[in-house]
Amino acid sequence: MTTIAQAQPNIALIKYWGKRDHGENLPAVSSLSVTLQTLWTRMSVEFRDEDGPDTLRVNDGDAPAMLTRVSHCLDLVSGPGRRRANVVSHSNFPIGAGLASSASAFAALVVAADKESGGCRERIDLARLAGASSGSAARSLFGGFVELTAGEDRIDVMTICESPDWPLEVVVAITAEGPKPVGSGEAMIRGERTSPFYSAWLERQDDDLAAAREAVIGQDFEKLAAVAEHNCLKMHSVMWSSRPPIVFWNDSTLSCMETIRALQSDGHPVFFTIDAGPQVKAVCLPEAAAVVTDALAQTAGVIDTMRSSLGPGARPVESS
Ligand code: PMV
Repeated sequence: MTTIAQAQPNIALIKYWGKRDHGENLPAVSSLSVTLQTLWTRMSVEFRDEDGPDTLRVNDGDAPAMLTRVSHCLDLVSGPGRRRANVVSHSNFPIGAGLASSASAFAALVVAADKESGGCRERIDLARLAGASSGSAARSLFGGFVELTAGEDRIDVMTICESPDWPLEVVVAITAEGPKPVGSGEAMIRGERTSPFYSAWLERQDDDLAAAREAVIGQDFEKLAAVAEHNCLKMHSVMWSSRPPIVFWNDSTLSCMETIRALQSDGHPVFFTIDAGPQVKAVCLPEAAAVVTDALAQTAGVIDTMRSSLGPGARPVESS
């Protein structure tokens, strides 16, 4: 039997940056994200009674670099004595480029592996397993606006506002398509060890989270915009002040930020956020989505734009 599951990437409005425990991959801070609708990863898992290593195909190519993490995740879900797995992953957006492809990949993987091995775990348990492989993946198990609480020895994850209740849109501006120079795991370690701003980042995170949660519950776009942009720029300040520095932005990333500032000056309800890559995500009210998409598409260096509403959490889509 083969089981296929689908998950969408999520975009953090209050970021996760830094780990409390590297072995368990526990985040040092809580975070808040939105799960997308249009971008997706579909992951198929098949267990076979055969000897030999697991296999992994990603977008029709071999992916040996990812295989260790995928096999480890399968061990967590199905036990280290599990059968050999054939895993096939397809994403309809650039992977490894700061678009949260590891979030959608590991969220889909735990759902498919759990079903394929006859389990029917609770969503929160699957979120914890996904989070052990990629911290942000835990949030893609849930839809809409998702809060992840970083506890001492485990995370909690829940939807705090369903997507139909506040139907924001996200426009992604792709400014470069290659893989990022440093993975987020390595970049976080560098920040924890060397950035003088890291402790300030940790100290203020709960205040940012509380402000963002209040803005989401109250559907206060301006308040959410202010705290989300500030939180994003603080995370990048930790990266920039790491030694050696980590700068994921390019010229076009900055041009996109200027475009969004100009739209804001003209009264359009939109704000930016940027993750571990050069892509810019513009979050807006639905009435602004067309003008935001046009403006970003015309911004210098933008290769492509993708628009998405908010969507559901990871789920099985097919078995054969
Ligand atoms: O889940 P990871 O290890 O790929 O880290 C993700 C970190 C950011 O995307 C930059 C922020 C976030 O909260 O998603």
